[in-house]
Amino acid sequence: MNNSRKRVLSGIQPTHDSFHLGNHLGAVKNWVAMQDENDSFYCVVDLHSLTVETDPKVLRNRSMVSVAQLLALGLDPAKCTLFLQSQVPAHNQLAWIMECMTGFGEAGRMTQFKDKSSKNGADRTVVGLFTYPMLMAADILLYQADFVPVGEDQRQHIELTRDLGQRFNSKYGQTFQIPAPYIMKAGAKINDLQEPTSKMSKSSPSQTGVINILDTPEVNAKKIKSAVTDTGREVIFDEVSKPGVSNLLTIHSTISGQSIPELEEYFSGKGYGDLKSSVAEVVVDFLNPVRVRVNELLAEPAYLHSVLKLGAEKAEVVANQTLKQTYEALGLVPRD
Ligand code: AMP
Ligand code: TRP
Repeated sequence: MNNSRKRVLSGIQPTHDSFHLGNHLGAVKNWVAMQDENDSFYCVVDLHSLTVETDPKVLRNRSMVSVAQLLALGLDPAKCTLFLQSQVPAHNQLAWIMECMTGFGEAGRMTQFKDKSSKNGADRTVVGLFTYPMLMAADILLYQADFVPVGEDQRQHIELTRDLGQRFNSKYGQTFQIPAPYIMKAGAKINDLQEPTSKMSKSSPSQTGVINILDTPEVNAKKIKSAVTDTGREVIFDEVSKPGVSNLLTIHSTISGQSIPELEEYFSGKGYGDLKSSVAEVVVDFLNPVRVRVNELLAEPAYLHSVLKLGAEKAEVVANQTLKQTYEALGLVPRD
């Protein structure tokens, strides 16, 4: 292995039957781009998804569908390490250490926790939602990651990870690499097509503004053609006065590779209808082969399991080494 290569780690939850376009453009697209030049570890964070109660059969299926989507979107097991979080026990083991280093108030300030717990009320909020960011910190620190490619919504969790890593290093000696978030400006926040000022989200009550990777082309084209646009007629990028049009331009540009100014130029004199048709075409053309490939992969469970087994074995070597150093630094007595 070439040691000058940077370490990359990221994760995605298997919480739904399909990833959406925001997951791809905000995160997975960068994972794919980074696997060539870096030593990259990508995990389906099934333990994190237990913070929402799910039927066991559904969870098992969603984990495999998530892996199939990651492969179909371009992850190559020959270039990266792809694995399931629950298959590498060191994640839970380091998470406990991280929990012992995090202040109660500090954890309570995580906006994702505050949003979710205030929506559901204290009695219906599980403790795992509170400790979620410490498990995420463990995911990252175990691999000595230099970079963590994620969407904008994860910035605060990565800040916490950095604080925890630095706190540990200064108390117990250099143990963890301090990771940097890797958030590409374009695509970092894809918004809901019906509510273009809020992010596209798997958990939105209405799914009419969410483009799911595995939906049929007809469904996705229809959702794009029904996207909310703004007053005026001109196709120009302005997130304040034209959030709907700007979101569509972002989607087009991040998939087609054409810059926003090029697109503005192309659509000058044309209307919102033309923009929507063009976005629908670009999205559907991109997603069609992905859907086909996902179905092919799901028909080969033995292959998927072999990818995951190899991934877990590779991940475990790195994770166990970090865990061992961490235990030693803390003064935990080794068995042998
Ligand atoms: P999650 O669905 O919360 O597991 O998110 C998986 C990844 O997708 C994370 O890196 C998120 O930051 C990213 N992501 C989720 N929603 C969006 C969105 N609407 N726009 C851009 N990135 C997103
Ligand atoms: N919390 C992340 C999300 O909801 C998922 C995640 C878990 C993650 N562990 C991670 C992302 C480690 C990056 C690195 O999107």
